Amino acid sequence: MTLKKLISRRQFARGVVTSVAMVTGAPASAALLATPPQNEGPFYPVKIPLDHDNDLVQVAGRAQKAAGEMVHLLGRVLDINGKPAPGAQVEIWQCDAMGRYHHPGEGRGPADPNFQGVGKSMADSSGSWRFRTIKPVTYPGRVPHIHFRISGRGFDRLTTQMYLKGHANNEDDFLFTGIETEAERQSVQVAFVPVQGFDAPVGNFDIILGGNARRE
Ligand SMILES: [Fe+2]
Repeated sequence: MTLKKLISRRQFARGVVTSVAMVTGAPASAALLATPPQNEGPFYPVKIPLDHDNDLVQVAGRAQKAAGEMVHLLGRVLDINGKPAPGAQVEIWQCDAMGRYHHPGEGRGPADPNFQGVGKSMADSSGSWRFRTIKPVTYPGRVPHIHFRISGRGFDRLTTQMYLKGHANNEDDFLFTGIETEAERQSVQVAFVPVQGFDAPVGNFDIILGGNARRE
């Protein structure tokens, strides 16, 4: 599948614009579904590492790459009308391939020193951001997930979590099942699939800021 197809399929599924609106220029009648906020959890980094770029697989100064299955994760930050939020800061944090966080509260031993654990990406003029990271894994009490925090000018900070599409145990996860509607639960699930031109599977996660938070 090409990246363009992957993204356009998702846009279609989420009803970015109706065809009538496209022809008439009328406001889209179907607003996008706002990404549901989720618990921050106990592992937001106490100290942001010096290397906190958008490549979590390679830590500056280290020869080895992170253990785990490398993936590319990309998406956009949009408001409910599909308007991009350029300059939005997208932060992610997640556990390593053995389920351990870089955090003093981590009780399962030291995390992989070759995994950055946290990263930041700035949305460009089209609201697009990207990361190279590892496919999230299970740790005791949780299904695979990646934590997200989106902040920027003109909208309220959003903290949420992203899950693996169709993971067998999603329905057993207390935070996943705490998301109110099926449509919202669908909206935070991402499939990682091969995409032409990428050396690892690609997942697309569009983040929709709730309400009419954009001031511009
Ligand atoms: Fe977590």
